Amino acid sequence: MHSSSSPKSETADILARDSQYLLPVYARYQVVMERGEGVYVYDTDGNRYLDLMAGLGVNGLGHAHARMVKAMAEQAAKMVHLSPQYSSKASVDLAQRLCELSGLSSVFYSTGGSEAVEGALKLARAYGHKNFGAHKHRVIALNGSYHGRTYGSLSVTGQSKYRSDFEPGLPGIDFVDREDLAQLEAAVSGDACCILLEPILGEGGVHELSHEYLKRARDLANRHSALLIFDEIQCGLGRAGDWFAYQASGVRPDALILGKPLGGGLPLSALVVDRDLVNTLGVAKHGSTLGGSPMACRMGVEFLSVMEDDNLLAQIRETGAVLKRELEKLAATSPIAVEARGRGLIQALELNVPGRPIVEAGLKEGLMLNVVQGHILRFLPSFLLTPEHVMEAIPVITRLLEQEAAKHPASVATTSTAR
Ligand SMILES: Cc1ncc(COP(=O)(O)O)c(C=O)c1O
Repeated sequence: MHSSSSPKSETADILARDSQYLLPVYARYQVVMERGEGVYVYDTDGNRYLDLMAGLGVNGLGHAHARMVKAMAEQAAKMVHLSPQYSSKASVDLAQRLCELSGLSSVFYSTGGSEAVEGALKLARAYGHKNFGAHKHRVIALNGSYHGRTYGSLSVTGQSKYRSDFEPGLPGIDFVDREDLAQLEAAVSGDACCILLEPILGEGGVHELSHEYLKRARDLANRHSALLIFDEIQCGLGRAGDWFAYQASGVRPDALILGKPLGGGLPLSALVVDRDLVNTLGVAKHGSTLGGSPMACRMGVEFLSVMEDDNLLAQIRETGAVLKRELEKLAATSPIAVEARGRGLIQALELNVPGRPIVEAGLKEGLMLNVVQGHILRFLPSFLLTPEHVMEAIPVITRLLEQEAAKHPASVATTSTAR
């Protein structure tokens, strides 16, 4: 059991000032993390945690990876930021690598996932306007999807709980249920400029779209001259066990959105587009002052190189298979677990009780867990996680579920969506 701080400790002081000076937009956990090492994080009281959420999927190479630290120090001594009107070796090296890996043609950098989604929406609308006229502006997105918090990305997020306080959002957005081919067919028509999909819905609870669904989306996009855009901010760049989650389906998008681990922890996202779209966003039609800095791109190059040199895709698949097997066992045995889902290192255990008490209890037992949709434990660990780490976590998770189940007699257990 972890030690907790006395009221006068540094930890208590930081938490008190946190609630005084930071907007309460996040329901923060009552610990203060100080440093990390690989898949472990240490708090200000010296307690160690196995990190199973990797900074919401950003820390692909864990914490303080020696090669990333070296690359960062070297680049910091040369140049951190440069106007995007100038070229840097790092930004070109990374763009070339992303194009080679995806088979797409050209990259636009921005700083975070939401900003990259904005770029994708502008690309789709500009494509519609330029080629067909202003009527071709409708965006088809999924109920239950998550694409970000800025106005455009929020407008295409298919969860009204996130949008309702901020309406009206962008016009011309139609939401359809995932896996409902008839709804998709009915929604995509001549005035659709794009279909926007997460091949694995992440924040929505880790739901992988079937290959059939992705193929039908591709067919409909072709038939109605709409773009097919995949948001792989969460599931891409190795997390699902392939460079990109869509690759298993054989369906190729017209544009791909990447973020989270891309900058090795620095703010970096990318919109990667196919050949035909290279000139759709013309000069001065889009931009991002901080997007694609030499520093963030140098980290991106190093991240991809480490992935390759250390054969991490294979490790993600192997560790992911062990995690899946163990979560499936829990889903079959725990009265409060409903289903295990996902692949690679994007997985979930859906519960029929709220998940936050389990995350809070997990912190006391040395685990950093994550809950989405109020009742779904989502696992987004670092790609350095091994089967041994999984087997270190599983007895703790089993115990946490048992303790929580004891509080919820089966007769009163219900599915909750409270956050
Ligand atoms: C699929 C997807 N799209 C977009 C975003 C938004 O990214 P950011 O929070 O970096 O703006 C996220 C973040 O979780 C995401 O998972």
